[in-house]
Amino acid sequence: MRSVFRVPDRQSIWDRRLILVTGKGGVGKSVVTAGLARAAHKAGKRVLVAEVTPDVSTFSRLLNHFGHAMNKGEDPFEIEPRLFGARITPSTGHRLFLRAALRVRILVDTAMRSAALTRFLMAAPTFPEIGALYQLVSLLRDASFDHVIVDLPATGHALALASLPKTVLRIVPSGLIGDAIREGLETMTDPAKGGAVVVTLPESMPITESLELCESLKKLSIPVRAIVLNKMPRDPFTGEEKAELEAHLSGRTEPLLGIREYKKLKRAIVARETFRASVPPGIKRVEIPLFEGKDDRAVLSEVTGTISAVDLEARR
Ligand SMILES: Nc1ncnc2c1ncn2[C@@H]1O[C@H](COP(=O)(O)OP(=O)(O)O)[C@@H](O)[C@H]1O
Ligand SMILES: [Mg+2]
Repeated sequence: MRSVFRVPDRQSIWDRRLILVTGKGGVGKSVVTAGLARAAHKAGKRVLVAEVTPDVSTFSRLLNHFGHAMNKGEDPFEIEPRLFGARITPSTGHRLFLRAALRVRILVDTAMRSAALTRFLMAAPTFPEIGALYQLVSLLRDASFDHVIVDLPATGHALALASLPKTVLRIVPSGLIGDAIREGLETMTDPAKGGAVVVTLPESMPITESLELCESLKKLSIPVRAIVLNKMPRDPFTGEEKAELEAHLSGRTEPLLGIREYKKLKRAIVARETFRASVPPGIKRVEIPLFEGKDDRAVLSEVTGTISAVDLEARR
């Protein structure tokens, strides 16, 4: 007989090969992706870290963390021993697909230089995603990586990428594209193979949106492994001090130095409570402090430390 209770998932995120990092822009997706990659690499894993960008000439904030912001290559490149970087773009995927289909490299490269063809491929709503997914599948075929960690573009794109396979499979069930898409779908939806990490901020709207995103991903059968609450401000006050502050503030209307920061802190604390109370069981909660006044390099080092300290295991 099947138990009525959901069997909790106690495996660590590090048991999976594919980790898709998603969330709204500016929440810290890229630094969290870089931190996950650094943490896995430090733990001795062979890691591929990739960012989905519109094209090869876009500045990659993710790869910038590794000193390769402008890398234009199609293939993964070595950053350090056991650590590789890649850029995933629709056009690279299209090119890889055409090459596999035609097996004539020169012809494909010439065709891809045609502005008309590129415009055509980028104009259809699902074609850019098909390209990105095709390249992702090609990268996943390299079995030497323990982890492929992907910094996805804005939330909408992540959902488009995730919902793409089923739509495409209905139209092209087999052949090169069909097979690649099926492979991608299997890796994205098999809890033993991959999952998503959603990044959010300690503010009420972003938290609501990220919980909705988890729901949408669940509907697409993409397992969400963890939600990361990033940039949580430090609370320098004791309960007593806060009570005194509140008493001091009550009824005052004139502007006070630091009041905006204090109100922001209060909102962040409320948001964190919502976050702690509403993340569904089975999804790990990770909280990363706001590291104020630090440059990108120092922030990444702190974020890596925080991520290394939690083993991203399911909560219950
Ligand atoms: N926990 C943190 N503390 C301080 N700064 C952070 C933190 N997380 C991210 N940042 C900074 O916020 C900015 C946006 O982060 P980024 O990872 O590029 O966001 P996204 O990829 O979601 O657009 C960067 O300058 C980054 O250094
Ligand atoms: Mg980014």
